Amino acid sequence: MNDKHIGVALTGSFCTFSQVLPVIRRLAERNSVTAILSPAAAATDTRFYRAEDLRRELEQITGNPLMTTIAQAEQIGPKKLFDVLLVAPCTGNTMAKLKCGITDTSVLMAVKAQLRNDRPVVLAFSTNDALGAAAVNIGTLLNRRNLYFVPFGQDDPQKKPRSMAAGFGLCEAAMDAALEGRQLQPILL
Ligand SMILES: Cc1cc2nc3c(=O)[nH]c(=O)nc-3n(C[C@H](O)[C@H](O)[C@H](O)COP(=O)(O)O)c2cc1C
Repeated sequence: MNDKHIGVALTGSFCTFSQVLPVIRRLAERNSVTAILSPAAAATDTRFYRAEDLRRELEQITGNPLMTTIAQAEQIGPKKLFDVLLVAPCTGNTMAKLKCGITDTSVLMAVKAQLRNDRPVVLAFSTNDALGAAAVNIGTLLNRRNLYFVPFGQDDPQKKPRSMAAGFGLCEAAMDAALEGRQLQPILL
């Protein structure tokens, strides 16, 4: 992917940030990338990442200011800022709200604004209840216009039998396909 305007929205799946940052780094080498952070991603210190470190690293990688508020993300709609929007990592929480049309975070606002423009959104989720409470949400979102998924599979079937996660290394391929109006296949890893 070259010379595209890309939004990458990060939500609070903190353990997968280390898999997503290299993806953003690669995208930023050849494209203009803006990172959007949900309140949880922007402000929660965890054993995986300090919030301040994440914000600083993302600004360094992209060279662009972060979007962290609903008001900032709203501008994606009227200004048509992005060719494609990647939500990586996408939590079970954000998918549940997306399914219900709830727009109470910067990331959900970004998705809504991108869809308003009839442009693609690519979800790379990671959630421990993908084969539990989140399954119905994933199923519904799979059937939504302009929504695409980074292929996903069970990440630890023995210890976390209901967990699934995207193959984060496939984000760019899934975005390329989405820009052509296609879902990258196979969708199940
Ligand atoms: C250390 C830690 C790790 C978490 N990992 C995940 C995760 O991998 N997937 C997920 O769906 N939620 C995870 N959560 C829960 C979300 O952060 C929580 O549901 C939050 O409300 C998500 O908000 P957001 O979707 O607006 O970012 C984790 C929470 C903590 C504290």
